[in-house]
Amino acid sequence: MSAAPRNDPLLQPYRLRHLTLKNRLMSTSHEPAYSEDGLPKERYRLYHAEKAKGGIALTMTAGSAIVSRDSPAAFGNLQAYRDEIVPWLRELADACHEHDCKVMIQLTHLGRRTGWNKADWLPVLAPSPIREPAHRAFPKTMEEWDIERIVSDYASAAQRMQAAGLDGIEFESYGHLMDGFWSPLTNRRDDEYNGPLDNRLRFTWQVIDAVRAAVGPDFIVGIRMVADEDTEKGISRAEGIEIARRLADSGKFDFLNIIRGTIETDASLTRVIPITGMKSAPSLDFAGEVREATKFPTFHAARISDVATARHAIATGKLDMVGMTRPHIADPHIMSKVIAGDEHRIRPCVGATYCLDRIYEGGEALCIHNAATGREATIPHVIARTEGPSRKIVVVGAGPAGLEAARVAAERGHSVSVLEAAGHAGGQIRLAVQNPRRRELIGIVDWRLAELERLGVEIRYDTWAEAPDVEALSPDVVVVATGGIPQNPPLEAGDDLVVSTWDVLSGAVKPSDTVLLYDDNGGHQGMGAAELIAGSGSRLELVSPERFFAPEMGGMNHVPYMKAFQEKGVRITINTRLRSVRRDGNRLVATLGSDFSPDYREDRHVDQVVVEHGTAPLDELYLALKPRSRNLGAVDYDRLVNGGDIFPTRNPDASFTLLRIGDAVASRNIHASIYDGIRYALRL
Ligand SMILES: Cc1cc2nc3c(=O)[nH]c(=O)nc-3n(C[C@H](O)[C@H](O)[C@H](O)COP(=O)(O)O)c2cc1C
Ligand code: SF4
Repeated sequence: MSAAPRNDPLLQPYRLRHLTLKNRLMSTSHEPAYSEDGLPKERYRLYHAEKAKGGIALTMTAGSAIVSRDSPAAFGNLQAYRDEIVPWLRELADACHEHDCKVMIQLTHLGRRTGWNKADWLPVLAPSPIREPAHRAFPKTMEEWDIERIVSDYASAAQRMQAAGLDGIEFESYGHLMDGFWSPLTNRRDDEYNGPLDNRLRFTWQVIDAVRAAVGPDFIVGIRMVADEDTEKGISRAEGIEIARRLADSGKFDFLNIIRGTIETDASLTRVIPITGMKSAPSLDFAGEVREATKFPTFHAARISDVATARHAIATGKLDMVGMTRPHIADPHIMSKVIAGDEHRIRPCVGATYCLDRIYEGGEALCIHNAATGREATIPHVIARTEGPSRKIVVVGAGPAGLEAARVAAERGHSVSVLEAAGHAGGQIRLAVQNPRRRELIGIVDWRLAELERLGVEIRYDTWAEAPDVEALSPDVVVVATGGIPQNPPLEAGDDLVVSTWDVLSGAVKPSDTVLLYDDNGGHQGMGAAELIAGSGSRLELVSPERFFAPEMGGMNHVPYMKAFQEKGVRITINTRLRSVRRDGNRLVATLGSDFSPDYREDRHVDQVVVEHGTAPLDELYLALKPRSRNLGAVDYDRLVNGGDIFPTRNPDASFTLLRIGDAVASRNIHASIYDGIRYALRL
């Protein structure tokens, strides 16, 4: 591939006052919950440094670094109110500056978007005592002494960021404290902080004036602001643009970073941060309108997932800097691939939003199909060739685990062949994408197939591998990635009367008129089948033994399922187990029970019962090869985590090592399969 043309709009430097941003790609602020003790330590630094290595011009660190104690972390936020943060941020900034990547940070007071029962148990506050549905705290009304205190907290936090050698800061002003004053939805005050726009902006002016007094005129200060709440009685488009104009004209800010929508419920949050199946770049034109109206440096991110759209945003003058945030979680080396003319090799962000859903569930941001992100200390983004001998590796199964193992092993310089029983690759991802809304997930498979082709790895399809077939290839290592097959939940009777979600998703079984779907797995599999069944016009009841359906899936992914279920009139029954199924003429009777009340029994008369209870490992090949392998299938987990040879020698005369990964081990998810694939293949 030839290098990108020099006139590529994305490669043009951007001058932001005294700062030269070397190209037009940035990562907008996002909290990956990698902080330790509220501080950005090694994991945080390596994560941002990887993007810097990958050629990005600007990384906006933190997501909502908190300026005050009474804004406790909602999702691992950095504590900008502590002096201890300065040396850690300096190290992070130095690591990025080495690659000429500029570093800024987002500062905020979360206001009502957090909980009172965290950290110091201080009361949550807001301009008015209106609860945020997502975090459920009832805030107290801010008093004058709160305003004074928080204004001064912003100023000292900004000073810390400057002392750490960062290139600038931005205020978060959507769904947090600052814009709480702007919006008629959240400001019901009867003092000088409400009424005409100037009053509602009063707190913002106090903050910027205090910050400017602290950091001087030359430090970059921007604002990530809602310029249209896109909801009845909220900040209108016209008013939002007027706010943007006033902030721009004040001469106190250096850039605007534009948001459209509100974030107070999961449903509205997905309109601000659209997930898979939703429109690409839905607010790009609007951000362009703000730029046009203000003639001011304008940044924006919201599902600009591919380089072509980013290029369009710059070429058409809609933006000055394009935020590609989740795309950099999926591939931190986007810009270096653009520069090298390898744009087609960028690992695509498929919008799965596993990353974001995890932080709201108390986990850290992990990409569904890049297991190196957030694990830079142990898993490299660029795979180096092995210093040991090149080995002959046979991978059986071309699902996500097998494809990833094959890709990484081939990058390491091993000779890899892949055997796949089906006529195509992808395993369970092929089933997931039968739900048209989730079809982008096929990018996980397609990207790996393209990489394997580049690496010269052959995949033999329609090949059911038995142990002798595998041994006939004289492998040094056999990787069994054969996946699983659906299994029934424990039933008192009727195992032979139910069908699986796989039957429905694959199209092998058509949905009947009335369907009961029982899901005690709790992830996408059951919900994907339910969405498909509901979409086919069947009358569907979804039954879950949990307190809410699909608890393994995060809040943002919950939204489109719930939307579909409500629109199609799906009946949802929680806290209820499927006990048994029996035939009644040409119909079925599903008997439901409960963990809570042993005597509770209810019958449902339906045409079809669909069940989702994960998979049982397809382990015949593994079990057949196990006694003939050098390690008898064993792996040393301590060494897997801490280093060293991970395969104990238990059968010294055997000629090959045996490894089992993905759902062939146990029913898990796509990320677990990919992580298995890379972490083991790195050790071959
Ligand atoms: C894990 C994660 C955490 C985020 N946290 C924040 C945050 O604290 N503040 C913020 O302004 N945006 C946050 N965002 C939103 C991103 O900055 C960005 O607006 C969003 O991901 C849409 O851009 P994208 O489609 O390029 O990813 C977060 C996003 C992710 C993925
Ligand atoms: S988890 Fe999905 S949305 Fe998040 S970065 Fe990875 S591919 Fe993109």
